[in-house]
Amino acid sequence: MRMINVDEIVSKLTLEEKVKIVVGVGMPGVFSNPQSRVAGVAGETHSIPRLGLPSAILADGPAGLRINPTRENDEKTYHATAFPIAVMLASTWNLEILEEVGKAMGEEVREYGVDILLAPAMNIHRNPLCGRNFEYYSEDPVLSGEMASAFVKGVQSQGVGACLKHFAANNQETNRMSVDTIVSERALREIYLRGFEIAVKKSKPWSVMSAYNKLNGKYCSQNEWLLTKVLRKQWGFEGFVMTDWFAGDNPVEQLKAGNDLIMPGKVNQVNMFRKDEISEIMEALKEGKLSEETLNECVRNILNVLVNSPSFKAYKYSNEPDLDAHAKIAHKAGIEGAVLLKNENTLPIQKDAKIAIFGTGQIETIKGGTGSGDTHPRYAISVLEGAKEKGLKVDEELANMYEEYIKKMRETEQYKPVQHPWGFLVYPKLLEDFLTEDEVKKFAERNDLAIVVISRISGEGEDRKPIKGDFYLSDDEVKLLQVVSKQFHEVGKKVVVLLNIGGPIEMVSWRDLVDGILLIWQAGQETGRIVADLLTGEANPSGKLPTTFPKDYSDVPSWNFPGEPKEDPERVIYEEDIFVGYRYYDTFGVEPAYEFGYGLSYTKFDYGDLKVSVDSDVLKVSYVIKNVGDMAGKEVSQVYIRAPKGKIDKPFQELKAFHKTQLLNRDEFEEICIEIPLRDLASFDGEEWLLEKGEYEVRVGSSSRDIRLKGTFVLKEEVRFAP
Ligand code: BGC
Repeated sequence: MRMINVDEIVSKLTLEEKVKIVVGVGMPGVFSNPQSRVAGVAGETHSIPRLGLPSAILADGPAGLRINPTRENDEKTYHATAFPIAVMLASTWNLEILEEVGKAMGEEVREYGVDILLAPAMNIHRNPLCGRNFEYYSEDPVLSGEMASAFVKGVQSQGVGACLKHFAANNQETNRMSVDTIVSERALREIYLRGFEIAVKKSKPWSVMSAYNKLNGKYCSQNEWLLTKVLRKQWGFEGFVMTDWFAGDNPVEQLKAGNDLIMPGKVNQVNMFRKDEISEIMEALKEGKLSEETLNECVRNILNVLVNSPSFKAYKYSNEPDLDAHAKIAHKAGIEGAVLLKNENTLPIQKDAKIAIFGTGQIETIKGGTGSGDTHPRYAISVLEGAKEKGLKVDEELANMYEEYIKKMRETEQYKPVQHPWGFLVYPKLLEDFLTEDEVKKFAERNDLAIVVISRISGEGEDRKPIKGDFYLSDDEVKLLQVVSKQFHEVGKKVVVLLNIGGPIEMVSWRDLVDGILLIWQAGQETGRIVADLLTGEANPSGKLPTTFPKDYSDVPSWNFPGEPKEDPERVIYEEDIFVGYRYYDTFGVEPAYEFGYGLSYTKFDYGDLKVSVDSDVLKVSYVIKNVGDMAGKEVSQVYIRAPKGKIDKPFQELKAFHKTQLLNRDEFEEICIEIPLRDLASFDGEEWLLEKGEYEVRVGSSSRDIRLKGTFVLKEEVRFAP
């Protein structure tokens, strides 16, 4: 193979060619730009034909490769697998699965001729209403960072690149392109940057995408402190940084700050936006406002990565990724990411139980969120289809009533699907209480169990709202639950709710009405099959919450979300500082509906034999988990550390490590040995990390509030670490 010497290329490039390397070709297929050679991708870099340099292709996103499934004048299809959404992947707490999902997506990226996948997205769930939380992993940076690292390793093992996004503190959609996020350096280092730091150091991503928002007064894409000092110098990042699409207001400042590639490039869009970046950068070079050396540095950062890309290696892609194998991986990930929230002697059900399924979501099942994190799979199995396919005894008459109701309503003016400006269809929410009480009574009498599907969808560009029909159930949903529970309970039958959602909703006001609740998130193309396997005990739920479900929206610590002024926020001040998610609820004694790390199983696990020791600069924790129930299952154990009271305010406890067991049969056990560098226990104190002296408590739990084992260790001296 021809060896490519980047310095040699840079020495041959003209000034204008260098500028082209740092600016994308414009959004392919949009604003009268030509479609890319892979239709439907998000972006493409410039080729330099004179030197034989091809373009590289960039495509979304976190739940699967987003490309057009069909092409003009082409019979072939180009479907990609729809995996579970990222918050569901994080609910698996399973690093092996994340790596497997990453590998599968990476293969699709490569075999469809793409070079870089614009994922993982790893912003922190600061507030449950962020419209893109479904694309993000967790409220906790350690869980996010570990999940992202495993995913990136998987993707990049396929010879293509991953991209950590959106760097950083892009925790809302409202005014995302302009809002100024005001946040302390401590909260940044410990919460909002920490996951990125873990992923950069552990998985060496090819690229990072700077975020739209401003961070303490400067656009992230124009923020030298963030992109050069922290990312490149302190963490040792070796890839290249790209902007989010159309981010920031000054391409020259972007290059100077360490943002190497400007995406998608404003070619053919000069009327919509200001000038195009290529001419702006050329002018700045001529006027001496940008040095050629700075430009060279950006070019080198980009080319150092791209020379390893499939396009540069002229890889002959097949357009035939193994979609069947990947569907199995999507299914497996969904099985492990569903979270059993409530189960009063109800689940699993007998395979021959007669079930009555309620809720329009059984047919219009949501596979994932909208926007750049959307996917175009070959199929998506609804809850109803999955149940039927797996041979469950579904009440056909009821299913038909739902089918007819949905069909009829979708033909009306009020409920017909409408085209969103970004191309996808929006389905106005249907009323869920169309059945009469007598009809429900009939179904209660002749079935063994009721299943009620509650669905929500959200997406890029808009945050969710703390209102009925979104964070709260709508009146018609409540009515459906009330009527179904009353009628089924009257004849001694149980009711199970399936939550087909992308982020927390309020549950306390209605959860007592039902006997079981399974959080199935938005599980991608395999959703219905996953649900059927979990309901029948073909598989045992083993997911745990990566994000707190608060009792009420008024309990949420980021009370000023999405900033001020409320209607059109210019800035958002992170007043809760480091007290995000469980760090807040635990420290300030606020009880959530379901805590971080929570999730039930059809079996039971015992914890024992805790050993804690400190060996030079590593904390060693070991313990044993045994399956003491009746069914094979996996357990996610979590190691929290409670720091001593010292100079700095600390949260009550913080997650520092976790482990998911293998499938344990009845009476089987696993010994778990975990090593945590002491540096990871330090807090950010002004300029450095400070590990305080004193007695630390090691808390090993099945959730953040179900601590099974406690031990302690003492540090005699404080230690400081450079960032
Ligand atoms: C999103 C990114 C995405 C990009 C390209 C932006 O609007 O914020 O996450 O990768 O578009 O589609």
